[in-house]
Amino acid sequence: MDLKGKFITFEGSEGSGKSTQAALALEYLKQRNSPVMLVREPGGVKISERIRGLLLDVKNTGMGDECETLLYMAARAQMVKEALVPALGAGKIVLCDRFLDSTIAYQGFGNGVDVKFIKELGSFATKSIKPDLTILFDIETQKGLARANARKDRIEQRPLDYHNRVRQGYLTLAREHPQRIKVITVDADKEQIFKQVKTLIDAVL
Ligand code: TMP
Repeated sequence: MDLKGKFITFEGSEGSGKSTQAALALEYLKQRNSPVMLVREPGGVKISERIRGLLLDVKNTGMGDECETLLYMAARAQMVKEALVPALGAGKIVLCDRFLDSTIAYQGFGNGVDVKFIKELGSFATKSIKPDLTILFDIETQKGLARANARKDRIEQRPLDYHNRVRQGYLTLAREHPQRIKVITVDADKEQIFKQVKTLIDAVL
């Protein structure tokens, strides 16, 4: 596929501040008059937002790991087809709040679903599109959970051990893909963190 645009993803465990940073990046690039859009996962387009509702609803207590994994992938496949491919094809910069690394971290390392299988499903759902840059916001698990919403969704409600595995999963991915995944340690205020984000973004544009 001939995709002229740039694809930048924001990853991290709960309360890492990645969504705030993605919003700041959007404003920064708009001010530079760059053609840019921001999408979130699961979601970004109508069908995927509806799947998001199913995934995060605390009432869906009986959802199995298989169903959960496939629903995240289904939401992704639709977002890729409807939003990512057209935007990258048109030469836009696409900022994405979570992508395939989230499924590897949460469903793979967190739930114990086979990571190799997730990667195979991931190639199908993403048409093998890979981010040009992934910024991973790393925060100590308990600190992150304390910063997250008071009203926890179905995933956030999981125990500390689960969230620790997610964090370690992300750090493992970062070691495996040092060229693509850049880790920012969340230990400063959002303006200082954004300076680091800006440097990383400027380097790939
Ligand atoms: P958010 O908190 O960034 O809006 O993401 C929603 C939740 O979905 C969050 O708890 C992480 C979780 N999630 C997965 O478990 N697997 C995935 O593939 C994605 C994209 C998100």
